[in-house]
Amino acid sequence: MSTPVRFLTALSQALATMSLYGDDHPTTARGLDAALERLRELQEPDPKMHFTFLSGEVLFGTEVVHELEGWEWSTRLVKAGVERIEFLDPVEADQFDRFLSHLAGRLGIRPASSVDLWQMGESAIRYGLVTLAEGQRVRNEPARVATLMYTLREERETMDWVHQEIQNGAKIPMVEADAVVRSLSVAMHAEQAMVLPLLQLKEFDQYTTTHSMNVSVLAMALGEYLELGAATVRALGVAGLLHDLGKTCIPREILVKPGKPTDSERLVIREHPIVGARMLLASPEPMELAAVVAYEHHVMLDGGGYPALRDARGAQYASMLVHVCDVYDALRTNRPYREAWESNRALAYIQERSGTEFDPGVAQAFIAMMRQWDQRIAKMPA
Ligand SMILES: [Fe+2]
Ligand SMILES: [Fe+2]
Repeated sequence: MSTPVRFLTALSQALATMSLYGDDHPTTARGLDAALERLRELQEPDPKMHFTFLSGEVLFGTEVVHELEGWEWSTRLVKAGVERIEFLDPVEADQFDRFLSHLAGRLGIRPASSVDLWQMGESAIRYGLVTLAEGQRVRNEPARVATLMYTLREERETMDWVHQEIQNGAKIPMVEADAVVRSLSVAMHAEQAMVLPLLQLKEFDQYTTTHSMNVSVLAMALGEYLELGAATVRALGVAGLLHDLGKTCIPREILVKPGKPTDSERLVIREHPIVGARMLLASPEPMELAAVVAYEHHVMLDGGGYPALRDARGAQYASMLVHVCDVYDALRTNRPYREAWESNRALAYIQERSGTEFDPGVAQAFIAMMRQWDQRIAKMPA
């Protein structure tokens, strides 16, 4: 059993004993001690860590805890509004006791009192809905736009690492990529999610990471808007996340160069769909949909774009869907040679090219979806 599993098992046992015995019963105290001991073991290498709970699924940091698949306590925690537990510092015994009694209150194991005050006090433990902490709302934004507000720092770090691994010639770390998609999906569905959890580009070096995560979120949102099934939506999330994987092979000087690329540089850039698709097909579990999308995401409806397809039927539906998300995010981002466009302008561009570059059905759905998100943002209090 891994240390996260040992801790969560001890935690659930402590909660179970709390529901069976009273506060002062020695069994309750023993359960609490055991859970705290496991927590200390887990915090030993690094006290800062977090768990995310989905129905029947648990993530430790960005890693899925496979041993706890279908674990009933994760469903119970989610139902009680506990989607995330964060530990910021080494936890003291009294803090831990308080935390567990608040948790028991939330779970309905004991009467809930002052539960909501918990997070207002100083504590090394935080829990609640997934809002992904730190600087979610950017106040006083000059233009209200549908990007922003989440930092998703760990997910971003994981993706940076995924890209580095690939640059170093390692196989695609699919478990991590999958975990990032799950986290993005959680962020998208957080109860208070007023905006899509899109990232703002801070440094140009992070372009590929930031852009991949945004395209993943947009593709999942569009898939849901089009009422595609959950498995398809998740597959679109993975395909969106990995669509530009081939860019990890383009020399940095070309990628960050301001101004127009030369003809020979353009040829190198245009290879990225093919390189990416090859990488995805060579991964230990070949990612076929992601490979198709990586190959076709620059193909236009009228046959323009690149690479040239041999199949006269044109690009697949999933590729056309990712294509529109890809273009939108690229337009909405500051580039070395131009400022980011406002959402409205990017949507007008998509509208104008609906039927030529973009599949009309996909383009119309995308525009309608983004207008909905933009309207929600417009209604948000300043
Ligand atoms: Fe691309
Ligand atoms: Fe892209």
